[in-house]
Amino acid sequence: MCGIVGYVGDDTAGQIVHGGLENLDYRGYDSAGMALLGDDGLTITKREGEVSNLSVPTVTGATCGIGHTRWSTHGPPTDTNAHPHTGMSDDIAVVHNGIIENYEELRATLVADGHEFTSETDTEVVPHLLERELDDGRDLRAALESAVAKLEGSYAIATVCADTDRIVATRHESPLVVGHDDDAAFLASDVTAFVEHTRDVTYLEDGDIVTLADGDATVYRDGEVVDRPIDTVEWDATAAEKGGYDHYMLKEIHEQPTALRQALSGRIDLDRGTADLDLTFPAGFLDSLDEIQFVACGTSFYAAEYAAQLIESFADVRATAELASEYTVDGGGDPRRTLTVAVTQSGETADTLGALRRANGGGIRTLAVTNTLGSTVTRDADDSLFIRAGPEIGVAATKTFASQVTTLALLSVFVAQERNALSAADARDVLTDLRGLPGAVQQVLDDAGDVREAATAFVDASAYFFVGRAHGYPVALEGALKLKEIAYDHAEGFAAGELKHGPLALVTEDTPILAVLTEGTRPEETLNNVAEAQTRGAPAIGIVDGSVETNSLDTAFSVPSLGPVTPLVANVYFQLFAYAIAKQQGRSIDKPRNLAKSVTVE
Ligand code: F6R
Repeated sequence: MCGIVGYVGDDTAGQIVHGGLENLDYRGYDSAGMALLGDDGLTITKREGEVSNLSVPTVTGATCGIGHTRWSTHGPPTDTNAHPHTGMSDDIAVVHNGIIENYEELRATLVADGHEFTSETDTEVVPHLLERELDDGRDLRAALESAVAKLEGSYAIATVCADTDRIVATRHESPLVVGHDDDAAFLASDVTAFVEHTRDVTYLEDGDIVTLADGDATVYRDGEVVDRPIDTVEWDATAAEKGGYDHYMLKEIHEQPTALRQALSGRIDLDRGTADLDLTFPAGFLDSLDEIQFVACGTSFYAAEYAAQLIESFADVRATAELASEYTVDGGGDPRRTLTVAVTQSGETADTLGALRRANGGGIRTLAVTNTLGSTVTRDADDSLFIRAGPEIGVAATKTFASQVTTLALLSVFVAQERNALSAADARDVLTDLRGLPGAVQQVLDDAGDVREAATAFVDASAYFFVGRAHGYPVALEGALKLKEIAYDHAEGFAAGELKHGPLALVTEDTPILAVLTEGTRPEETLNNVAEAQTRGAPAIGIVDGSVETNSLDTAFSVPSLGPVTPLVANVYFQLFAYAIAKQQGRSIDKPRNLAKSVTVE
């Protein structure tokens, strides 16, 4: 949630900062603003709504600037609550991601000292604190260091001051990355902001203070300069463009075959029947495990539920998926015989990081499964495994779900083999199914026109119910979530057998049932549940693979059979269906209302 951009260099800062905000507006799009430091001091401009509402002011000599795109937490999205925020004067500007938990207390102290506040945000305490520190004679870096020592909560903060030609920034539990170019330095909450200018980046650590001045960045820790490595981002700016599609989401749905090839590349040895992951656990650790716990949120949680089922069936070990926000280590088994796996596309989701820290604190070994190099989760977990999906800009996760399940399926085989629970022949079958995924997904994508046409009949439905069993159940949940997110329609996913235990009361002729009816998901039983809904008038759409007779369905879409990962292919139909419904309703598909790509608050 929220995006920060900063630039110091020889070019016109206004255009570069605005461009960065446009690249980041998937992180939050309630309001946007920027502060540019030019020959006549600071010029601050901010506006409610998307970045496109914000025009770049003409500021002579502006070669330094910060910007922000907001997903509101404290205070509604208005011009006044938009960032940057200032103190008593307009000589200092601050942008902030995260939440300052003790802001009420700080604000009360500052008000008692005569400070006047204009916004309802938690952020506004920061420029006021900085003013106080600067008045005490500190320079901007020392002032920021001293001010953040008073903050509780999570933050990435960047600030510029009228009489210092530099940006000073810091982070605590909220991402911040620096970009290095020949004569320029960039700052952002996500490399997407500046990847068109440079792919050389430094991921800051909690507590680092960075100054961007004279086209260069210097990182400090406790007042001393520290060396931080420079990494090269593997993808370039074209990967974060729409590439001719109407929406990023549609582009990313169509990128799935490529994303899956990347997830599998170099990780399958069919001759030996092994999943080769670059993971090393202490000798005997996997073999001695009593339990693997997955923690995640939203779509990543559904990928985790899928993975827990795969691990249990392949690796002969108890596996659970828990919503990260509900996870506690209390009452668990022996921490030395437990592995907690945090599944998070962004690597920055506060709920998931919170769960991971609780696991770490309980002495449990942890593994991060993520799409994002350098993200907080990769630092907090003992080991990391990357899903290699490339940048995902659409707020609704699509290709990353496919890449998560695929990578976790590889992990399941890996763990199973370490535990001698899966023969090479059985592993080879699963790995062959995984190898078939990119082609099978492409077949579904080639059918996109038919899905679009079929969806026309259901665009006015009053609700949509998705059902499935076994691996079909998390996919039903994910199908419903996609429809909710981008079409704003009521959609629910149910374990098919549960329909008759209550939800059937909701079923009418205006509530289509979408069912996963593929091999391994007990399709005969699910078909019975679908028939119970059809008897009450509901139209039925099934994703089938020929494993059962499905003539009774009103609409059927076929997928090739790929054993335990067939429902992952079925999911692509659900993605296309949700997209088609939302498109026909004219929704804001890439930036659905009230949502943001990365939720860095608990
Ligand atoms: C749904 C969606 C969210 C995320 C969730 C977790 O389309 O995008 O439900 O899956 O916020 O995000 P990550 O995976 O970044 O931890």
